[in-house]
Amino acid sequence: MTDAIGYELDGDIAILKAQNPPVNALGHAVRVGLVDGIERAEQDGAKAVLIYGDGSTYFAGADIREFGKKPLEPGLPGVCDRIEASPLLVVSAMHGTALGGGLEVALSTHYRIAVPSAKVGLPEVLLGILPGAGGTQRLPRVAGVEAALDLITTGRHIKADEALKLGIIDKIESGEPREIGLAYVRELIDTGATRRPVSEMAAPEPVEFDAVYDAVLKKGRGQVSPATAVRAVQAACELPFKQGMARERELFMELMNTDQREGLIHAFFSERAVSKLPELKGVEPRPLNAIGVIGGGTMGAGIATAALLSGLTVTMLEMSPEAAEAAKGRISGNLQGALKRGKISAEQFEALTEKALTLATDYDALKDADLVIEAVFEEMEVKKKVFSQLDAVCKPGAVLATNTSYLDVNEIAAMTSRPADVIGLHFFSPAHVMKLLEVVVADKTAPDVVATGFALGKRLRKISVRAGVCDGFIGNRILSTYRTCADHMILDGASPYQIDQALEAFGFAMGPFAVADLAGLDIGWAVRKRKRAEGLDPRARDSSYADKLCEDGHFGQKTGKGYYDYAAGPRSRVPNPDVLPLIEAERAAQGITPREFSDEEIVRRYMASMVNEAAKVVGEGIARRPLDVDMTLLFGYGFPRYRGGPLKWADLEGLPELLADIQSWSEEDPYFWQPAPLLEKLVAEGRKFDDLNKDAS
Ligand code: CAA
Repeated sequence: MTDAIGYELDGDIAILKAQNPPVNALGHAVRVGLVDGIERAEQDGAKAVLIYGDGSTYFAGADIREFGKKPLEPGLPGVCDRIEASPLLVVSAMHGTALGGGLEVALSTHYRIAVPSAKVGLPEVLLGILPGAGGTQRLPRVAGVEAALDLITTGRHIKADEALKLGIIDKIESGEPREIGLAYVRELIDTGATRRPVSEMAAPEPVEFDAVYDAVLKKGRGQVSPATAVRAVQAACELPFKQGMARERELFMELMNTDQREGLIHAFFSERAVSKLPELKGVEPRPLNAIGVIGGGTMGAGIATAALLSGLTVTMLEMSPEAAEAAKGRISGNLQGALKRGKISAEQFEALTEKALTLATDYDALKDADLVIEAVFEEMEVKKKVFSQLDAVCKPGAVLATNTSYLDVNEIAAMTSRPADVIGLHFFSPAHVMKLLEVVVADKTAPDVVATGFALGKRLRKISVRAGVCDGFIGNRILSTYRTCADHMILDGASPYQIDQALEAFGFAMGPFAVADLAGLDIGWAVRKRKRAEGLDPRARDSSYADKLCEDGHFGQKTGKGYYDYAAGPRSRVPNPDVLPLIEAERAAQGITPREFSDEEIVRRYMASMVNEAAKVVGEGIARRPLDVDMTLLFGYGFPRYRGGPLKWADLEGLPELLADIQSWSEEDPYFWQPAPLLEKLVAEGRKFDDLNKDAS
């Protein structure tokens, strides 16, 4: 026996207790322990075996850290077969989350009981693989093909009551897993229940698998694991159990060797590592109960909504009673959405809008706030005024945050007598929906203020990324570069529509021009005007065709026209016929003869520009680790999760080849394509971005 599985005998019932914190992942020691435990129970002459998990959960799945390493025997499929084949009655008692390999172990036991709060699921496709220990063969036999396809291709978790309806579990009972499990085993023995191996059940009825495969592939936007899993379920219908298992293994190994699997697992661990900063170890955040939000536009109202939903009280400061009422209207509208989706009850809605939210027009109302976030007009002078007033009224120790997306947080902090309390909290619109929060740390920001920024992010269920101060921080700075790259390709002959289509085929939720239309073309216009006013480098290429769209009042979706025409609604975009003539006129004015771009070249240039700027951002310490950039792009910019993030993508593509491309393009445009020193260094040392993540962990 290993320590990972505890063994005890209660009369003629052997009890196997998983004790591999934090989530009882099915690592090597657990697998060995399970097989040993079953063998020992058989030798001890037990009648039945109960399997349950110590701590917070039953098995939450295979140990993801073992993926990509040399597999150690016994493998999980063999463990499941051994459990199922035992002549004893084997029962699972489940609590917490029985996921992936965890549910597969449960399905190999003969009966399953769960507490009401338990959840089950086969989330493997979300990690780029498929259930590889019989899940695709056993689940359809138990729950039918339709339900199995739904659970396996979406990876969604379901609650115990739904699992009971589907036949995945046999009984729900409140209590400790050990106790309810033992009572159930005794009941089964007393009623003469016999073993019930799922593998011996009849093959399930097939469905139109080709049609399902096509639909799932399309929905995955290039992600292959869900569609591949359809073929494994198909095998459950068409092949005897043993051969079905072999087919599952074959497809599982195919996926295990893909870049998508690497990308998704990188995303899984990075999502958890991103908020764990060595500098914050042992640093306590400041108390956080009441917050103030200044400015109730779309952004401020979104921030207030997120805060209210997380249980914070919010004071919304606006310039006039009318503006404050309008802000309340926006917040109520957002909360109505949460009510409709069943996230809050009607009573909670009432309490949030009437009790937890206070409207104000006087800064004095913010004097008791633990943290104040301003979301006012994006102009330095306006922000400075706000911060001098906050400095005058806020209590000592209050965190003063700006939601600026570009401006210098040091300059804003300097307006106060307490720059150590000032931080940037950059939300993404709509702030109650978008997962990303950039926590912008200025030169003088105190560590416990940074910790408070992260604590707020956690409370609002955001992915918080630490960023240093520079124009655009991590995300918008990189965006500005890859957007410029796209603009250059347009000048040289590509169309916005080809670029969008190529990048959507790469996996982005939306191409950059569709995104610009959604965000509002006036935003980019304002940035261009500001940058031109500050003085562009004479070597930088510039274009003004997009300004002409704005001058004519076309700001994208909100005005019905931008790069696309939205006459038929926001979801049915068609190219705006005015755009290509404007581009052609610009090319003519600049004396450019347009050339053809392949989709492949578009993606390569766009991605290379993103990686190069990201390498500068990491090299300058604006992002501490490559994974911080990856998570920023994933959660704020629609980057395809299955590619892991731009720097994970770069590692998988090969850094030397990317650098060589950048160097060759720098011959035609040496200003834009300046290779990042960090990229050059990594190539020279034969290292990857992920090595820097490991160095930092
Ligand atoms: N393997 C290894 N480590 C895991 C793990 C796993 N399957 N699941 C979670 N962990 C680790 C996390 O990385 C985290 O570690 P750190 O504290 O060092 O960051 C720790 O366990 C706690 O996890 P969370 O912070 O996510 O805790 P939570 O309570 O919010 O969520 C959970 C718990 C719902 C189980 C969530 O961790 C989760 O969804 N895990 C993944 C489950 C999964 O996908 N299982 C399928 C695995 S694939 C498989 O089983 C293949 C197969 O068919 C053979």
